[in-house]
Parts: sequence; structure tokens; C-alpha cells
Amino acid sequence: MYHDPVLRDEAAEFLVTPTGRVFVDGTVGGGGHAEEICRRTTETTRVVCFDADEDAIRFAEQRLKPFAERTLFVHSNFRNLEPELRSRGFASIDGLLLDLGVSSFQLDEASRGFSFRSNGKIDMRMDRRQPLSGWDVVNRLSDEELASILWKYGEERNSRRIAKAIVSGRPIETTGTLHDVVSSVTGERFMAKTLARIFQAIRIHVNKELENLERVLLDALQILAPGGRLVVISYHSLEDRIVKESFRKHSASVIPSGNKYAADRIVVPRLRLLTKRPVTPSLGEATRNPRARSAKLRAAERVNA
Ligand SMILES: C[S@@+](CC[C@H](N)C(=O)[O-])C[C@H]1O[C@@H](n2cnc3c(N)ncnc32)[C@H](O)[C@@H]1O
Repeated sequence: MYHDPVLRDEAAEFLVTPTGRVFVDGTVGGGGHAEEICRRTTETTRVVCFDADEDAIRFAEQRLKPFAERTLFVHSNFRNLEPELRSRGFASIDGLLLDLGVSSFQLDEASRGFSFRSNGKIDMRMDRRQPLSGWDVVNRLSDEELASILWKYGEERNSRRIAKAIVSGRPIETTGTLHDVVSSVTGERFMAKTLARIFQAIRIHVNKELENLERVLLDALQILAPGGRLVVISYHSLEDRIVKESFRKHSASVIPSGNKYAADRIVVPRLRLLTKRPVTPSLGEATRNPRARSAKLRAAERVNA
């Protein structure tokens, strides 16, 4: 099942502007946010929905049937945002929403292999057309390569020890076996957090999540119309750091030279920050929906250069 969209009202409030005509949900998932965007806009508005996962596209298409005349579904990675939109005749857009990471549907579906809490093949691909899967990462890489992924994308301090255990435990076919191998070298106290970090690291690597995020944040600057809104919900510090850094860089009007003998550079900012600090879910939402607990929303507006 898809659960409640995280920070639904807050995201829609930042995204939807009265004069906006084209809104893009880059991560439609179960369609909860997209539905809210449709509800808040009129028949003349187009809502373009992307997802790398074909199941999500099918599910969202069903859910958004009442808005069929003005929704459009694109089974593609948001890293292809610009070419996909241009090829459909959208030269610019008025809002882009990204609700990052995996959906509760993907996590709950054992056969997708995203969760250490269920047993299935180690797949972890959002887009099952891509060749690289979690199985390849777990069974084919050297222990140095694995350790570097666990360190970089899971910030896991025991990355070397765990990588060695994975290599000696091969072949590892299922998430259940991967869970047991990681558990065998992890203290009871840190078990759940370590498993979450390891699975997160492999998933981020398989789906190139951070590279794709960096790319779409740059593309958004090209395709957002002046006054257009960019709203991003992230769920861990690696993602949030990228969003924060990109927003900071493109909203700055002075670029420090970093050299006391050279003048700072004055530039025209491309974004105006709408959230100085990230917006986080209320206590009520965090209690109702555990997935929301780590969510951070940042929003910015494209300014007329
Ligand atoms: C947190 S869920 C979105 C939930 C959605 N906002 C809702 O209301 O149901 C994230 C979705 O984004 C998709 N996704 C993640 N990264 C993506 C990418 N780079 N390109 C396209 N879709 C992506 C996932 O497949 C997943 O369905």
C-alpha cells in the first residue's frame, strides 16, 4: 500500500502558484502529492508525473483517473527531466516537486528487495529496465569497492568489516541472507541502524540517487519559468546536503573569492529561498507516519535573471 504523502499540504502550498500552468511531480509514487496538486489547480493546468518505477506509474495513473484530461505520465528517471519535457512540447514549467527515495510500496514489496525486514531477491532497482541490480553489487564487487560504497552512501563506520563479511558470505541471493551476514558482524545494540545504513548504501549506489539529484537540480534551473517553484523533500543527510548546497549556491548574490587579494564576485542569483530552515513534519504527522520522521522540505523560487 502507498501511505499518506509526507508533508502533503506544505509541499502543495509552496509548489502551486496562482498563475502556474504546468506542474511536474518528478517522483509520483502512489500519486498522493500529484492528487493534491490536481485538487488545488484548475482544468487549464497540466500535471506531468514522472517515476522510474513502472508499477508506480501504473498505480498513480489509476488513482489520478478523475484528472485524466490534464495529467500526463512519464516512465523515466527525473535525470531526463529536460529532454522528456521538451520532447512533449513543454518549453518551461511552473513547479517541480521531488519527494525523494523509495516509496512505502517499494519497501513493503519483498520481491523488490529494498528492505532488510523482508526476504526476497536482492533487486533494489527502481527502474527494472536497468541492468545493474543490488545482487550485482553484493556478489560481484571487490571488498574495497563494497567498503567504499557502504562508507560513502551509508556513512557506515564498520564498512570494511561488513564488506569483508559480505565477500566471504557469497553467493548471497536474498535480502534475508544479506541481513544475516551483516548481523553476524554487528553488535545487537546497533543492529537495526546498521542494517538500514547498509541497505540504504547499496540502494543509493544501484540507482545513482545522488548523481541524479544533482543533475535534476541543475536542469530545474534551466526549465523553471521565472516565479516557478522547486520543492524537495529529502529523507537523509546525504540528500539534504545536496539540496541545501545547491539552493545556497544558486541563491547567493556574492561568490567569495577565497583570496584576500581578489574581490568577491557579484552575481545575479537564479533562486530565491522560500525556506531558510527546512520544514519538518508536525509531531502529529510523525506519530501517524513513521516514514515522515526524517523528512526535510526545502523550497525555492526561480527568479527572473
Ligand atoms: C517517496 S516516493 C514518492 C511518493 C509520492 N510523493 C506519493 O505521494 O505517493 C518516491 C518515488 O520516487 C521514485 N523515484 C526515486 N528516484 C527517482 C528518480 N531519480 N527518477 C524518477 N523516479 C524516482 C521512486 O520510484 C518512488 O516511486
